[in-house]
Amino acid sequence: MQSPSPNTASLIDLAHYWLPLYRPRAMVLDYGRGSRLWDTDGNDYVDFGAGIAVNSLGHQDPDLLAALTAQAHKLWHASNVFYTEPPLRLAEELVAASGFAERVFLCNSGSEANEAAIKLVRKWATAQGRPPERRVIVTFRGSFHGRTLGAVTATAQPKYQQGYEPLPDGFRYLDFNDASALEAAFAANDIAAVMVEPVQGEGGVMPAAPGFLKRVRELCDAHDALLVLDEIQCGMGRTGTLFAHPQDGVTPDIVTLAKALGCGFPIGAMLAGPKVAEVMQYGAHGTTFGGNPMAAAVARVALRKLASPVLLANVEKQGAALRAGLAAIGEESGLFASIRGRGLMLGAVLADAYKGRAGEILECAAKHGLLLLQAGPDVLRLVPPLNIGGADVVEGLSRLRLAVRELTSA
Ligand SMILES: Cc1ncc(COP(=O)(O)O)c(C=O)c1O
Repeated sequence: MQSPSPNTASLIDLAHYWLPLYRPRAMVLDYGRGSRLWDTDGNDYVDFGAGIAVNSLGHQDPDLLAALTAQAHKLWHASNVFYTEPPLRLAEELVAASGFAERVFLCNSGSEANEAAIKLVRKWATAQGRPPERRVIVTFRGSFHGRTLGAVTATAQPKYQQGYEPLPDGFRYLDFNDASALEAAFAANDIAAVMVEPVQGEGGVMPAAPGFLKRVRELCDAHDALLVLDEIQCGMGRTGTLFAHPQDGVTPDIVTLAKALGCGFPIGAMLAGPKVAEVMQYGAHGTTFGGNPMAAAVARVALRKLASPVLLANVEKQGAALRAGLAAIGEESGLFASIRGRGLMLGAVLADAYKGRAGEILECAAKHGLLLLQAGPDVLRLVPPLNIGGADVVEGLSRLRLAVRELTSA
């Protein structure tokens, strides 16, 4: 990749009209197909980032395109003052696929799904007659639940919260995978729910330890608290099963979804199990766009395709290939201390000598035609489309190898 052409550079200049919240690389993505992307200067990239674990069927999936265009020719938006068919059918399909939920709230993003979950927990606790100080939600250090004020308060990472005080009350943070700390916390008799990602994404691609979620479920049951699983990043096939939690052998009360649910079309969902399905009644919550017919039409197809055994087998197969390839690169270069994650949600943890350099590695990989993500400064995050072919995995790994050679020989 050379420096951007004058046309690309002039496009990038327009970013000064945005709030300067992001630091994208000096390129402008133009179009994609499958697991490949092209920028406005014609450079091609293997896509191991999938729009932050969103484009799980890659780019320009023909079935998603067909669903989107068919709906676009019928009705774009109606609001929840009226019924339309796609969100009605999507809710039925999500309930059936989940195996635990009875009702669904459709929204537009992950943060919004988690806000709905937080509000549902609070309403449930209220209906139980608990005073506000006994409606505490426990979350875990390293978690990421979103950027809206409630979701960022649930996000137990100070860097996302600083400067936004006063934050809402009623959250308590514990160490992830520390069941004894949770057991001790329940002694206060004020916990209404535990909210947890089965695999922490932004926090470094950190899976729940074997048995941890089971213990969380037991403790929630023993103390009459709800279990809320944030599967926004790790759900929808990402870790090898449609929902992540069956791998941990638990049944949640609430699950939140977004990201790959629309495979690139914005949509979120909160699934409510029997304990909480009737808690929120008419007027208790709402959204203008949530369950938009365009988003729901796309999500129905996404859900069907992401649940297919062929796709899930591909996640296992390519996940194993990617993991093995990363391990080999790690051995050759000394760059990685370990590879962790599940399915096609993998984290390559940088060895001590390279700690803090994830951003630089991403930059170098992009220069070699590979788009990767980081999860903090010390972990490379690989979340390619779930239908990625073996040839693209091999090509992506060979581009990574070139980037790593350049970095480690410098
Ligand atoms: C686990 C998890 N929860 C919530 C969110 C927030 O989703 P959104 O950015 O759509 O609001 C994210 C986004 O990265 C996430 O990874």
